[in-house]
Amino acid sequence: MPVQVNPSDSQQDMLGSWQRRSLQHEAVSLPAEVYYSPEIYRLEQEQVFGKYWYYVGHVSQLEGAGSYFTVDIAEQPLVILKNKADELRAFYNICTHRAGPVVVGSGTCNRLTCLYHAWSFDLEGNLRGIPDMEAAEDFDIAAHALTSVQVDIWESFIFVNLDPHCEPLLTQLGELPELFKRYRLKDWKRAHSIDYWTDTNWKLYVENNTESYHEPSVHPILAKYYQSIEAEARHHYYLQYTPFFGNDDLPTNLNPDLYQAGLNDREMAGVSTMSFFPNFAWITSPTCAIIYLVDPQGPKRTRVRWDWLVPDTEAATSAANLDPLIEFFDNIQKEDLDLLPAVQTRIQSMGYKQGRLSPTREVGTHLFQELIMNAIASPARSEH
Ligand code: FES
Ligand SMILES: [Fe+2]
Repeated sequence: MPVQVNPSDSQQDMLGSWQRRSLQHEAVSLPAEVYYSPEIYRLEQEQVFGKYWYYVGHVSQLEGAGSYFTVDIAEQPLVILKNKADELRAFYNICTHRAGPVVVGSGTCNRLTCLYHAWSFDLEGNLRGIPDMEAAEDFDIAAHALTSVQVDIWESFIFVNLDPHCEPLLTQLGELPELFKRYRLKDWKRAHSIDYWTDTNWKLYVENNTESYHEPSVHPILAKYYQSIEAEARHHYYLQYTPFFGNDDLPTNLNPDLYQAGLNDREMAGVSTMSFFPNFAWITSPTCAIIYLVDPQGPKRTRVRWDWLVPDTEAATSAANLDPLIEFFDNIQKEDLDLLPAVQTRIQSMGYKQGRLSPTREVGTHLFQELIMNAIASPARSEH
């Protein structure tokens, strides 16, 4: 990585002395600066988004050979595309001349042509068009190919890994593909998408999404489910299951005729929340799924992309089915986003103290904090 990370001495001490603590005995929230320090954010870009498979988008954003879309999750500009043989490729969207963007937005193309001085690259990243460079001696054209990035798909979800020596996506996913295989989410249709923005560190959003503790107070409509929630956290993920009630009136349970075929009794009788480290999550029900992409855009700014998926039937994709689902989940999201910036402000204040975590309700938050701290503390430890 070209940019040097220089945590301060006190940050080095904080990272070097961090220890996992058990939830029952002494686990507390993380030190304040983890949520606003530019140096910690840079460590996360390198040690989390630079090492782990992370989610970039849904396969429906690509349609055939030459289609592409761009993302800059954790401020790393990438282009994801289908080559001429309709195979998935990913590259840094950084021209090898003087760092211009080789493409913007999304669409279809035969070549990627830099917006700055018009160098152009084929869909394998090779440099092909080079205006006014005939006089350049010893110009190694092959060495000026775009930098490629590992890319893979789980169901209909595209993940990348910036580390050329990374383990396979399937290894990082663990048992998730097996646990959720009956939903057959790759057959579902992306029916609606929204980008939400919040003045919040990305980890506060993920922590909030990996616990049920806040649900009765922040989401009164969900309060009646609180006592029946089941939760567990292991490996790189958090799992939460909320059974429906017989007299349920939520739109997730409106019409059994719309249920995805092939689900087991438990899957048909409730909603599953899953959060996969670092930036992917979903809520799945028998009739719809909300897919989360959490995108850090600085130490105190986060984009959250939500895609609504439904079984690909006329009834499920109809406005009559979709509109209540969208409104319901959009309200839940806004309740969280109304609160989280107030938490961010207080963490940054001089009055913040680290507080005890709930042994039963914050198992996912505890695991997420452990994964984050292990990822960013490693280099600090090795330098000590
Ligand atoms: S920066 Fe791309 S052609 Fe100059
Ligand atoms: Fe919430």
